[in-house]
Amino acid sequence: MNKQIAIYPGSFDPITYGHLDIIERGLGIFDEIIIAVASNSEKNSLFTTAERIRHIEETFDDNPRVTVDTFDGLLVDYVISRGAKVILRGLRAVSDFEYEFQIAQMNHNLKREVETLFMMTSVPYGYLSSSIVKEVAGLKGSVESLVPPVVRNALAEKFGKTTKG
Ligand code: COA
Repeated sequence: MNKQIAIYPGSFDPITYGHLDIIERGLGIFDEIIIAVASNSEKNSLFTTAERIRHIEETFDDNPRVTVDTFDGLLVDYVISRGAKVILRGLRAVSDFEYEFQIAQMNHNLKREVETLFMMTSVPYGYLSSSIVKEVAGLKGSVESLVPPVVRNALAEKFGKTTKG
């Protein structure tokens, strides 16, 4: 039987527990999840693509069903190139809907065989974003409950230690 593969794309600058929530729940549905780091969104990023990949690899290094890759160009072309048919995305609040709806429609229009599957982000992470994590870390607030340890350490290297946590 063919393996069911989902592509979970994003900028992951950095990966947060909100993303982990979607990935872990996605593993209940798919055999394999490929986390696809968009390399063309590096311009205004805090971490380089290589750093973002390393954070994700270290976070999932004991899980053979999760792999990390990078892509540029059209997402749908990348999805097909990996032998997948599904794009996995998380929805946090109503505010995400319009943007996600537009992208999903466009992707479906570009490649009919590619579907986007949305999962509602779990309640504790509904307010979370990578930008807010960077802002809190930059102001020396604790990000312990928001990001995995490898990212916490990387943020501490960029901004200095937090006042707590
Ligand atoms: N929990 C918490 N936060 C979440 C989350 C979750 N489950 N899911 C997403 N977020 C946050 C991210 O941290 C990010 O925060 P930020 O804006 O502060 O950085 C934000 O939501 C959205 O980020 P992300 O999911 O990474 O999406 P994106 O908009 O950065 O990237 C791509 C979207 C890469 C998938 C899209 O731009 C793309 O497909 N690009 C390729 C080019 C292409 O094919 N274009 C045509 C498509 S129409």
